[in-house]
Amino acid sequence: MMRNNKTIGLFDSGLGGYSVFQYLKTHLPSLNLVLYADQKNAPYGNQSDQAIIEHTIHAMAWFEAQGITDIVIACNTVSSIAMAAISKVYPALNIMGIIDLTTSQMTGTNDTVAVVSTLATHRSKAYTKSLHARGIYNVVSLPLGDLVNYIENMEDPSEYLQKALEPIQEATTLILGCTHYPLILDTFERFFDGEIVDSREPIYKVLKHYESNQDGFIRVVTSGNPAIMREQIKALFLEDVEVEGV
Ligand code: DGL
Repeated sequence: MMRNNKTIGLFDSGLGGYSVFQYLKTHLPSLNLVLYADQKNAPYGNQSDQAIIEHTIHAMAWFEAQGITDIVIACNTVSSIAMAAISKVYPALNIMGIIDLTTSQMTGTNDTVAVVSTLATHRSKAYTKSLHARGIYNVVSLPLGDLVNYIENMEDPSEYLQKALEPIQEATTLILGCTHYPLILDTFERFFDGEIVDSREPIYKVLKHYESNQDGFIRVVTSGNPAIMREQIKALFLEDVEVEGV
């Protein structure tokens, strides 16, 4: 296996990024990993393309200033809207978007794949295009515009989700196209019988190649209020970590 000591930047609009971060630090403890959560500007999912691109360009500038050149965009909304723009502004950065990471690992061209996501991700058709490019043509995209708010506010999404998922019960696979959604994986499992794919496993598979041969270090950084993020992580993820401001 290729081994190196590079630091990986993990970018998300907010708290959902911690679901990916937690998974990675548990499964790849030697990875050097820096999570940047743009909580000041979150949620992104209902904002305009231009606003999402501007927020993302600022975030990439932060990573660049830290000397971090390998960046995983965990946020599906950013991956669907801003990849072309940021690659143009930062050609020297190695930026990997979650949508292509996820679809590139999917097989089964006869599957019917449903994708649930924010409104912006749905509107962009990024998952549908990416799945079509891989020969998977039976794709249904379903926006869940209110779900991030349920999760952020720690409200029970059961009733909302049961109703929302009714139209996609025929699908064989469900992609959770938003970093927040793995937080309520058990609720999705209650209301969907097929295979469920989320962002964490595809990112894990790619970042395995970045494991270092010494103890990894981690940092959690927010553009919002570090004390609040620390409390949110305690409540939602049952972990106490140091959170830095920018
Ligand atoms: N992190 C975003 C995503 O994966 C969702 C949260 C937001 O709306 O900012 O799409």
